[in-house]
Amino acid sequence: MLKSIFISNVLPEQARSMIPRDYSVDYNDSDTPLAKIDLIKRLHGKDALICHIISAIDEEVLAGAPDLKAICNVAVGFNNIDVAACHKRGVVVTNTPDVLTETTADFAWALLMAAARRVVEADRFARSGQWTRWQWDLLWGNDVYGKTLGIIGFGRIGRAVARRALGFNMRVLYHDTVRADPTVEREVKATYMERDALLRDSDFVSLHTLLIPETRHLIDERTLRLMKKTAILVNAARGPIVDEAALARALKEGWIAGAGLDVFEEEPKIHPGLASLTNVTLAPHIASASLDTRLAMANLAVRNCLAVLEGKPAITPVSS
Ligand code: GLV
Repeated sequence: MLKSIFISNVLPEQARSMIPRDYSVDYNDSDTPLAKIDLIKRLHGKDALICHIISAIDEEVLAGAPDLKAICNVAVGFNNIDVAACHKRGVVVTNTPDVLTETTADFAWALLMAAARRVVEADRFARSGQWTRWQWDLLWGNDVYGKTLGIIGFGRIGRAVARRALGFNMRVLYHDTVRADPTVEREVKATYMERDALLRDSDFVSLHTLLIPETRHLIDERTLRLMKKTAILVNAARGPIVDEAALARALKEGWIAGAGLDVFEEEPKIHPGLASLTNVTLAPHIASASLDTRLAMANLAVRNCLAVLEGKPAITPVSS
């Protein structure tokens, strides 16, 4: 039987060309999310789906695709997929860890630096025609070097963020549900701390947890009020980890000093209370968006898909 794959959104030619010619491929060459009804229609009868985080895969979608064997997300996060429902139906779910770790950590740092040193405000000011003379007190920001960085979520990306802090001679604290191996702690010079204590003690807080029910609104009014008034929050993980309405108030009323955000609760909408502030740096969910990394993610998703369809174990399966 001809094996069939549905690629629900844009994927580089280099990755698509890895699919053997005798497979049938339905390719939706667009980065607009398909309406659920169209997704269900085109998925019907397919053996595998390669998709982005803009495709929501729930019980209803799965029910319309009884032949499905694999869903290969071109992302490390997989909160767009009901993994438990997939596993109940014997559908393998894969993601793209590792290949985007360093690029995502770079971008978390870009947000941290931009927010701390007011890079976006500086750019706007320099272009505005208002820069008429050298000014002693122009756009003062926060030092990064030697400060305390708190990392919540100490998986691959959290650790990569910690490793970069070594070059800034920072004190690094981390929190996760499980404590890292002492050799990892030593390697990146990070100290485990309870979450509230980390929030109280950190000059910068960077979020790197999965979005699961336990991490939804992990940063809310209560936890924002624990942070230093001079602190900066960075989120390059998932939007709903932060209560955006509470964050907007925190930034406006000075409970914390600033934020750098790549992700939002209801993308592509940005909470209006955030969009009007200058002490937050905003990016449109691009932390893994480098040419090399996006290609590597696409290639890994295709390799995962082919492995499952060839009856082999997936390379990077998502466990329940
Ligand atoms: C991007 O958000 C990803 O999860 O890879």
